[in-house]
Order: sequence, then C-alpha cells, then structure tokens
Amino acid sequence: MAHVIGEPIDRIDGHAKVTGKAVYAADAKTQKLAFGAIATATIAYGEITSIDASEARRQPGVLMVMTHENAPEQAPWVPKAEDPFARPKPQLDSKKIQYFGQPVALVVAETFEAAREAAALIQITYLANKGAFDIEAPDREIKDPKTDVVGKPAASKIGDIDTAMRTAAVTVDSTYKTPYQNHNMMEPHASTAEWTGNMLTVRSAVQLVESAHQCIATTLKVPPDQVEVIAEFIGGGFGGKLPVYGDAILAALAARELKRPVKVVLTRQQMFHVTTHRGASIQRVRLAATQDGTLTGIAHESVAQTARADDFVEPIVAPTRSLYAAPNRLTAQQTVVLDLPIPGSMRAPGEAIGLLALEQAIDELAVKLDKDPIELRLKNEPKEDPEKHIPFSTRNLVACLQQGAERFGWNKRSAKPGANKQGQWLVGMGVAAAIRGNILRKAEAKVTMNSATSATVEMDMTDIGTGSYTIFAQIAAEILDIPLEGVTVKLGHSSYPITPGSGGSFGASSCGAALLDACKKLKARLDKHEGPQGLSAMGRVEPGDEYKKFAQFAYGAHFAEVGVDADTGEVRLRRMLGVFDAGRILNAKTARSQMIGGMIWGVSSALFENQEVDTRYGSFVNVDLANYHVPVHADVPAVEAIALKVFDEHANALGSKGVGELGICGAGAAVSNAIYNACGARVREYPITLDKVLPALG
Ligand code: MOS
Repeated sequence: MAHVIGEPIDRIDGHAKVTGKAVYAADAKTQKLAFGAIATATIAYGEITSIDASEARRQPGVLMVMTHENAPEQAPWVPKAEDPFARPKPQLDSKKIQYFGQPVALVVAETFEAAREAAALIQITYLANKGAFDIEAPDREIKDPKTDVVGKPAASKIGDIDTAMRTAAVTVDSTYKTPYQNHNMMEPHASTAEWTGNMLTVRSAVQLVESAHQCIATTLKVPPDQVEVIAEFIGGGFGGKLPVYGDAILAALAARELKRPVKVVLTRQQMFHVTTHRGASIQRVRLAATQDGTLTGIAHESVAQTARADDFVEPIVAPTRSLYAAPNRLTAQQTVVLDLPIPGSMRAPGEAIGLLALEQAIDELAVKLDKDPIELRLKNEPKEDPEKHIPFSTRNLVACLQQGAERFGWNKRSAKPGANKQGQWLVGMGVAAAIRGNILRKAEAKVTMNSATSATVEMDMTDIGTGSYTIFAQIAAEILDIPLEGVTVKLGHSSYPITPGSGGSFGASSCGAALLDACKKLKARLDKHEGPQGLSAMGRVEPGDEYKKFAQFAYGAHFAEVGVDADTGEVRLRRMLGVFDAGRILNAKTARSQMIGGMIWGVSSALFENQEVDTRYGSFVNVDLANYHVPVHADVPAVEAIALKVFDEHANALGSKGVGELGICGAGAAVSNAIYNACGARVREYPITLDKVLPALG
C-alpha cells in the first residue's frame, strides 16, 4: 500500500483556486441575478421611530426595499439551543436595535452599485437609549455564568488558593487585558440564493453546512428537505463563519419575493459589526511557588464581554485547568453585559487569549525566582490532568520545550533584560507553552468506487482554506490503494453525509476518521473480489469513552526573538519557532501552514490587533484593514513550525489531534516575554504598542 497520509502533498484544489475556477459564494453565476445591499443601524441600542425608503425605491434599477415594516414573517430567535448555529436568525423582524451596525434594511437592485447607493438614501430616525459599552465601567453589569460556551463549568476550585498565596515563598498576582479583535478573513460573508419552485438553494460562506441548512430552513419556515446549502470553497473562517448572518437569510427572503436569484455580500466595513468578533477580556492570574519553583497554587479569573443580544461565555481559563500541576487551584469566568455587537468564537476561543495572560505570568514567576522559564515549566509538568485526575492521552509538552530550546539556540539567551544590545536594538528571547483541547465530533462519510483505480468521497464538511480536500484524498488513496489523482473529493453540500463541519480544530480528525472507516469497509469488500465499480460504503465516528477516560490536548512550545528599538520602543519580531505535538500529521505541508498561520496571529495579538470601541456610541472605530492592523510579511520574518512524530491512539483511529487552532495558543505570550527579556518592559495590556514599551526604556 502506497504511503500517502502525512505526505506534504500540494493542495488538490490549489490549481482551481489560483486560476479562478473555484466558485465561492459571491462568484455564483446565474441568470437574472439581482444584487442586495444591506443598510445598517447608526445607533447601538434603542429603536427605529421612522423609516422612509421612498427615495431609495425611486432609484433606477431598484427592485425592492425590505425593512421591518414589510419583511416576511420568520421564526423568532431563541436564546438557547443544543446547536447554537442552527438557531433561527430572523432579519428585519423588529424595530428594536440591539447593536451598532445591525441590519435595518435590504435594497435589491439590478446592480450592486445601484443597490448600495439606494441603501444610503434610506432615511431612518431612531430613539436611542443609553447603552452600556465600556467593559471597565464602574457600574458595569457583571454576570456569573454557570457554564461556558461548550457547556463546561465556568468556575472550578480545588484546595485553598488564598492560603497558598499567603504562605508561598514567591508569588505573582498580575492583571492582563486583551482587546476586541475581528476575524477579518479574506473572503467576506456572502450568499447567493435561488428558488426553483419551492426548492431553495443557498450558496453561502459558512463553516458548518448542516447548521446553516437547519438555520436557514427554520428561519424561513421551510422544510429542511426543500433547502440545500452549498459551500464548496470558503476563503477563511476562523470561527467568524460558524454562524449564519443576514446575508444568507436576506438573500433567501428577497429571492423568494422577487422570484429571481439574489446575491448579498457584506462590505469589509460591515463585517466588523454585523458578524461576531473576539470579545475583550480582563484577566487576573495568581501564582504561588516555593523557592525551588514548585507551584503550590494557580488561579485564573477572567471577565469578558458578552452581548445583551446573545450570550457568549468564552472559555478563557480552560488551558489553566490542565497546563501545570499545583495542589491549590481556582478558575472563574465572568461576563460583562454590553450593548456591543455579539462576540463569538475566534481561532482557539479561550486558549488564544487565556494563554496571553497565563504564559506571561509564568514568565514573571521565573524572573522572580531567578529561574530559567523552561526549567520552571518542566518542574511543574503534571503526571495526570491536575483537575480531572485522569491520564493524558498523549502529552509531549516537555519534548516540545526541550527540542525547541535546542533548535532555537535558547542557551545563547541572557536572563538579564537589556544584556544583548545590537546597535540601536535591544534583543531578547521569550518562550511560552501551547495547549489546546482535542475534540472529536460525530461524523459520517461516503466513499464510492468509480473504477478499479478511482473513487469519490462525499461529506458535507467544508474546506475553509485548511486543506480538507487534500487530506481526505490522501486518506482515500492510501486505504483504497489507488492513485491520489484517482480520488475525487466532494465537500460542502447539504445533501452529502453529515459532518460537524469546520470548527474547533475537530474537522480533520472527525471527518478523517469517518472517512477512514468508510474506506476500510470498502477495501474489505473489494478484497473479497467484488467488482469495484459503483461499490460504496458509509463510514462513521463518534467520541466514545476515550474522551472520558483521557484528558486530550494538543501541545506546543513557542520561541520568539525580538528586537526593541532602544530609542522609540518599536518592537520587531526577528524569528520564531514553534514545536508542536498535534498527534499524527495528515499532511505535513498543510499542517505547517496551519501552525505558522496560528503563530503569526499570535504575533499579531501581541503587537498589532486592537478593535477600538467608541464608548460614547457603542461602535467599533477602526473598521477597515487600513486601520485594523494585521501583520504583513515584513512583520513576521523567519516563522518556522515543526511537528513531533506522535500517534495518539486514544484520539481516533487516525492518531491525529486538532492542529488548526494550536499555533495561536501561547504564541503571543512568547513575544511579550521576549520583549521583557530584550528591554525589561513588562506590558500586561495587549497589544504591546511602542507607547507602552517606551516608559521602561528610561
Ligand atoms: Mo473555530 S473559532 O471553532 O472556527
């Protein structure tokens, strides 16, 4: 059997993408297509008192204007559901405004330009109430949720942290702040909807096809078997395309009214308000240790934004529950109810910002103990999950730290800040650990032989740029023992077998394991000399006891070297290395892309990204890519990632663990720790812009 799984195969969809043949939601070509443009609210909290669309309706080419006064009836929104992304998402269903930028009208016209111009001509008056927009306001409304977004307890307590802090030889008690962030994937949210009789087809940029299928059908009160959702190609998601938004619902409603296909695309500016974002957080970390660096206590408490319009409890303290041993432990997560747009999952929800705090606190403890930060981490390596008291499935954090230190040249680092000056640059190195929960979800896959050397794979799974198409082709080719070119992978259609879709880094493992099962079943039958053509098999997977008996995580260690300009405080990343344990790697090339992509986002969190809130009006201020800073090539030189050779037999039959979100976890903390090592600036409020570094330079 040819060895294909794990090989660094080029994306099989790469050619279609770079030649423009890949059809994204907004590329759908169809006869008589009409174009929709959304108008959005200019207040954050209150209601519409009047709406005058007469001028807009008079514009040449305008086909319809939909507002809350004439929108078709839809299913009402519900606050809670087992699958939050399948909930109804009614649009223009009320005069109530719950956040700045909420869609208030849809204009459909013969051209996008006409629709957009007419949308700007709609006259709306509002009654604005006083909303709450400041996460640090003295009179803020704090909630103590029972559970986080994935249903885990919001708080945990073991032993007595207060006594541990009081009696410890050395302690850290620090508060960190992380800002609002936006996904800003390349492809905007877009949908093209078309009715054929009573059958609705929606091409939409969504990560979860089945959730979107249910959401759209429920919202429009149409039986699910009369709705198909297609998401063949998606230009990035990062959690921002887990939910369905107004583009899909409004396109479907308008297409039904007009009896014409309608396309609705959010503008880049609208994406900041209409869709979800990463909420801001304030995090307190307390560490208690003996003089030799043994942790006796660890506490992590977070306060983060939730919206009045919908609840979201980001699991910020989740990594702290499993990363280090300590007998006394406390974690807690509170939310502040604000009238801002709705927060949601964004690449490694929880770990991404939780580790920005925890892994900087560990570095602070190392400084206080005058101990190497790698040594300190090794000393507190737990033998089992410290809160659940169950074994880890696989855990190679120690190897990640040690091999990374070796490769990076950690022994050249001076522990003393400011000791390495190269011209105007103060140079320093930092390290941080990565941990990310490994998740398996129920999935089904179908594989069919077309000939003795070719097969077709079908799943409703998406490829959001991660490489799904390619790794599934590799699995089928290897198990069926056919050439890779003989495998056709069909994804992103609601009529295909149901998978959990792309999210939570569970896609590759869940869908891959279901496909492995299907291919093994099919191969067993082929080996009994059945004629191959047309022969097919279904495979499935669901999490079993292994996820209760073992604490499952992927791990990594980040190493960053930065230069800090001694005069201006400007920080430049010089090089970075990540060493990861993500179980078995299914494609070395696409996995590496995921890892370095995550690391770059970690650098971005440390140095650049900040979605500013205007607390007078409840709006985000910097709503384009000129003002919302993301890194360019010059900001991220020499970022390298390597994966350890691991097979996690408890994770799934493939041995793989989630890799998509791992790279961002802890990456930013390695950068902030490197800044401290370079120049002695300990900045606890992200992003670490030069104005925050400058005071430490004296
Ligand atoms: Mo992810 S943030 O669950 O797409």
